Amino acid sequence: MLSRRWALSIVVAGLGLVAGAGGCEKKSEAPKGPAPAAKTPDSGSKAGTEAPKAGGAAADKAPPSGTGPILIGHYGSLTGSEATFGKSTSEGIRLAIKEFNAAGGLNGRMVEVKEYDTKGDAKEAKLAVERLVKSDGVVAVLGEVASGLSLAGGPVCQEAGVPMISPSSTNPRVTKIGDMIFRVCFIDPFQGFVGAKFARENLKAAKAAMLYDQKAPYSVGLAQEFKKAFEKLGGQVVAEQTYNGGDQDFTAQLTSIRGGKPDVIYVPGYYTDIGNIALQTRKLNISAPLLGGDGWDSEELGKIAGDAIKGSFYSNHYAPDQADAAVKDFIKRYQAEFNGKTPDGLAALGYDAACLLFDAMKRSKSLGGRDLRDAIAATRDFKGVTGSITIDENRDAKKGAVIVEMAGSPLGPKFRAQINP
Ligand code: PHE
Repeated sequence: MLSRRWALSIVVAGLGLVAGAGGCEKKSEAPKGPAPAAKTPDSGSKAGTEAPKAGGAAADKAPPSGTGPILIGHYGSLTGSEATFGKSTSEGIRLAIKEFNAAGGLNGRMVEVKEYDTKGDAKEAKLAVERLVKSDGVVAVLGEVASGLSLAGGPVCQEAGVPMISPSSTNPRVTKIGDMIFRVCFIDPFQGFVGAKFARENLKAAKAAMLYDQKAPYSVGLAQEFKKAFEKLGGQVVAEQTYNGGDQDFTAQLTSIRGGKPDVIYVPGYYTDIGNIALQTRKLNISAPLLGGDGWDSEELGKIAGDAIKGSFYSNHYAPDQADAAVKDFIKRYQAEFNGKTPDGLAALGYDAACLLFDAMKRSKSLGGRDLRDAIAATRDFKGVTGSITIDENRDAKKGAVIVEMAGSPLGPKFRAQINP
């Protein structure tokens, strides 16, 4: 570890570059030598169950050469009811690019990002990725946040042979699209377990109700995982209700839930819906805490729900008030860049995804899709803001989660627990 640090600073000094404190230009423990392309189980033959391996002309296309900028893509919801997802991710990516370029880029070549708004819509997401890989010719794609949108954009990357890294999509199906698709976050079987464990052990909940978005793969999947884990831990799910994202009236579902007298209500949705659900829950005099997943993570949640969301909890990838030096340092640099704004989990994950990509670019034989894919797949113990990231054989990352409580004033997430796999 120490010697690696030294080796790195010597290289940087040798190039005569000034690296900022902290930042992107560091630090994965990836094995030296060629990436183990032939050995990774996922480069094998699951062709029957998974989408075909990338291998078309695009994958073997000569990497962009010369000294010009290197173009990467980002697709995210910059507008619509999940607008903070895309905006925060974009800011994290931009900070990573700025630091990487300031430290010399890739052997002097600067990185640039081309970005498209998905508006939180699956068709737009697919179109955005088509533009990025077919017209813009990006070497890699970052995005999406929402699992349903990564499921729409991922197959385009897979077919074009362009690596995609989702910073934050947690549904297991996302990386099953194929061997070009990666993520830097944990997956929902773990996140559901984390919620269930917290409900049972910390909240001492015996009975849970669930209310989830039946059209969002993320919400449906996470509800299933929570139920599985909660029952395994000896709890009982007494009511299960659904909604459609964007609904305004949840009275019928909440009235039915009230009848089951739950100790906790699990609501794995996205923040705008959660805000409205919280308001109506309290209006119906239901006092049980709400419990959710990472989809709650937005500064908008407290603004929409106010006191109605106070004392409710959600699982997430990071908490700004975590006592962690790397987290604190990241927050400082982010605030300096974005007007004192505190980064949410998506900003941290967007930053980590971009930094991990740059780390892989440095180790890659070329910027061709296949080579870059192999380098990303070989990432081991990359020190991200959201934890240490090792890309496993399913192209997922195994990491811990935090539980935060909506508390304080101004109302926001406060660190309550760390749960590791
Ligand atoms: N995990 C969510 C999904 O898969 C996206 C998300 C991640 C939202 C982190 C907020 C914070 O859809």
